[in-house]
Amino acid sequence: MCGIVGFVGRGDAKDFLIKGLLTLEYRGYDSAGVAVVREKGDLEVICRKGKVAELSRAVKELNVTGSCGIGHTRWATHGEPSEVNAHPHIDCTGNIAVVHNGIIENFMELKEELLSRGHAFASETDTEVIAHLIEESYEGDLVQALRAATSRLIGAYGLAVVHSDCPDEIAVTRKESPIVVGNSVKGAFVGSDPIALIDYTRDVVYLEDDCIALLHGDGKIDYYGPDAEPYYPEPTHIDWDAETASRTGFPDFMLKEIYEQPRVVSDTIAGRFADGAMSFPELEELDSWLDTIDGITIVGCGTSYHAGLIAREFLERWARIPVSVEVASEFRYRSPILDDRTLVIAITQSGETADTLEAIKIARSLGAKAITLTNVIGSRAARESDAFLNIRANIEISVAATKSFLAQVALLACLAMHLGVKCGKLGSEDIARFAAEIAAVPAQITQILNERPEILRCAKACSKAHSVMFIGRGFGYVSCKEGALKLKEISYLHAEAYPAGEIKHGPIALIDESVPVVVIATKSDTYEKVVSNIIEVRTRGAKIVAIATEGDESIRKLTDYVIYVPEIPDCFSPLTTSVALQLFAREIALIKGCDVDQPRNLAKSVTVE
Ligand code: M6R
Repeated sequence: MCGIVGFVGRGDAKDFLIKGLLTLEYRGYDSAGVAVVREKGDLEVICRKGKVAELSRAVKELNVTGSCGIGHTRWATHGEPSEVNAHPHIDCTGNIAVVHNGIIENFMELKEELLSRGHAFASETDTEVIAHLIEESYEGDLVQALRAATSRLIGAYGLAVVHSDCPDEIAVTRKESPIVVGNSVKGAFVGSDPIALIDYTRDVVYLEDDCIALLHGDGKIDYYGPDAEPYYPEPTHIDWDAETASRTGFPDFMLKEIYEQPRVVSDTIAGRFADGAMSFPELEELDSWLDTIDGITIVGCGTSYHAGLIAREFLERWARIPVSVEVASEFRYRSPILDDRTLVIAITQSGETADTLEAIKIARSLGAKAITLTNVIGSRAARESDAFLNIRANIEISVAATKSFLAQVALLACLAMHLGVKCGKLGSEDIARFAAEIAAVPAQITQILNERPEILRCAKACSKAHSVMFIGRGFGYVSCKEGALKLKEISYLHAEAYPAGEIKHGPIALIDESVPVVVIATKSDTYEKVVSNIIEVRTRGAKIVAIATEGDESIRKLTDYVIYVPEIPDCFSPLTTSVALQLFAREIALIKGCDVDQPRNLAKSVTVE
């Protein structure tokens, strides 16, 4: 959560800072600010509540110039979203400015201490203590002062610091919160995410925990390890295409990412099927251990948790291994029963979600081994697991997860087949059949994208409701959960998903003419049961939108609207029905005038508990 940028070099820092903050805005958009060192002894800090556009206007009006600066876009944790709580935060002298991602857990204690020594605080944030701690330790060496200050901190941080004495330097460090640096002939850059840097350099260094980098105006970067000794890290080459961070003609990232899904699913499964066998070279080191497992626990949050629910079905059907699926924030506070025969599958698009990271840590401490599925190769979740699998969705910018969900589900299907083969439950014929079925999915998604006009009609019909109910069975139920989450998240319309067979046990009392019901009624073993459930809600006056298999004309007679999806094996239906529900949620959000890419109160990565 939150985004950090910084530039020192030749040229105007504000251009890089504003552009970088706009790129990182998906990580937090309550308030934003920059600090620019104009010349020795002259530090200017400008903050605005609201989106980066507000800040950009102010920076232009105030004509802030200088070739060294840091910036921040915030998702509030400590202290309400306001100008005074926006970063950068400064020390008592006004010479030091700090931007911070993460949470300082002992900030209250530090604040008391600093207050008792006469420091004056301007904000309610945890971050401000860092500026004052640096102030106390600064004796002309920014790196040394930063090291001394961070030695007092408990918690997580990605930090960038400037001092008006050093108009040619930015010091950065991190602990459990990403910081990436890079350089070019123009100077040196820092971001909390490489996407802020890719227009300037493709070779970046992911800073390690407790290391410090000092960026110089000539582009040089000095690195210091936790022992304060210099070190020379190898840069990582980022090969995202130039269009990654732009909407490329789409009105919003969400739509762009929805339309990317046929390609994403192809990329995700590419190379996984080879001559009737599954290919998972990343799991080679775990290969013999995987033969010994007797249980699987899946952890994740939000959409990633939903992918886990689908994976349970895959794994139990194909590998016949018992699976439990847990919301990571609950798992970490239970007393889970895991041991060295338990495989933990952690699912996290960002690889940064605090609860999922903690769940991985707990599981491993109990002897289990963890495989993480993530979209971010250098992420903490990837590094802190026994193995990781790249879902290959390419960067996802819209806060609502779309393509990452499909990629997770497709990869989990492949993983379950792999384990099915290892357990002797699947043979080469099964693999060949699955391979053919899943290979057909990208074209089937494209077919659904062509259904947009009908989906818009359904969205118009439901947009005035105060609540929408989603019902389905089996895979259809999980798709409903994901569809309801999408709708809540981007349109602020109340939505609930229930197993269709469960509505008689209470939820049907909610139904009347004002509550539309979205039903997943694709062809499956429970199709007839779902039809009975449709009749039950229809009898109570509900307007019904069905997601049905093309060719199913009889469903029209029972429902008000039908969105057809191509015929597909039931187990792969979440890969198609979810696409229809993503578009449905987006259309409703747009009708209601919501910002689909940056919904209120949310941020892309939840790096705090
Ligand atoms: O990065 P992660 O997959 O760990 O994120 C988990 C959730 O925060 C995320 O899926 C969230 O629910 C999405 N915004 C839903 O669209």
